[in-house]
Amino acid sequence: MTARLLDGKAIAAALIQEIRAEVDARITLGQRIPGLAVILLGHDPASSIYVHNKRLACEKSGVISISHDLPATTSQADLLALIDQLNEDPSVDGILVQAPLPAHIDDETVIERIRPDKDVDGFHPYNIGRLAVRKPTLRSCTPYGVMRLLETTGETLRGKHAVVVGASNHVGRPMLLELLLAGCTVTVCHSATRDLPAQVAQADIVVAAVGRPRMVKGEWIKAGAIVIDIGINRLEDGSLAGDVDFVTACERAAWISPVPGGVGPMTVATLLRNTLEAATRHD
Ligand code: GUN
Repeated sequence: MTARLLDGKAIAAALIQEIRAEVDARITLGQRIPGLAVILLGHDPASSIYVHNKRLACEKSGVISISHDLPATTSQADLLALIDQLNEDPSVDGILVQAPLPAHIDDETVIERIRPDKDVDGFHPYNIGRLAVRKPTLRSCTPYGVMRLLETTGETLRGKHAVVVGASNHVGRPMLLELLLAGCTVTVCHSATRDLPAQVAQADIVVAAVGRPRMVKGEWIKAGAIVIDIGINRLEDGSLAGDVDFVTACERAAWISPVPGGVGPMTVATLLRNTLEAATRHD
């Protein structure tokens, strides 16, 4: 079997066009243009590229991008004061603080300072909790983007066994909740999991989110599975690799998302979807 590619770049571009049409419709109706504030601390090269892509996607979808590029030495108190100001600003529908943050800043304190109705990353415990009780509001962007990718396979998700490799707060855990909401039976693997290859071998859907290049081997994958690769790892030669050994996985999977060009662009598109959703709720 040679896997079919889940072309996140093309699917995300179509989603951005849908958002653009909805933003244009708002303008025609005399409604406010949605605004997304993106805060970047320091000059981490990967973060700078991600933030650039998010700002570009704002432009393409007609959403107003509000940039706050701050020095890496910014104090936590100053960052929280900026978030307070953006929380109160009616022209701002969404607030995103790009991770990773410098070591002197506590991620969870920052996330919880963002008002849940402006938490377009979907990281706030309120939004994760809403998803846990099957009442999603602002959904975590990457898992939400993965669900949109899975939709495009046309396969029924209900009843499938999904195995998520990685249990992080921002990806693995909300991914579990999204798949559960879609009716999958879900296994979440983490650093204490015994016999990871045997767990992955049971999966109709494999979602890899560990941050280790090519860790999931093609021979672990059940023939005909859907393989979603969330990892973006920079190799020593400067190239990018996912968490899945793509070449060998292609021989067994029915569908696979590439890196780059798979989940990454979907995360950006769902961020814009969330910003529009937040604006609709703010109306
Ligand atoms: N850093 C890497 N991915 C993300 C993301 O989706 N949101 C934020 N805020 N930071 C990130």
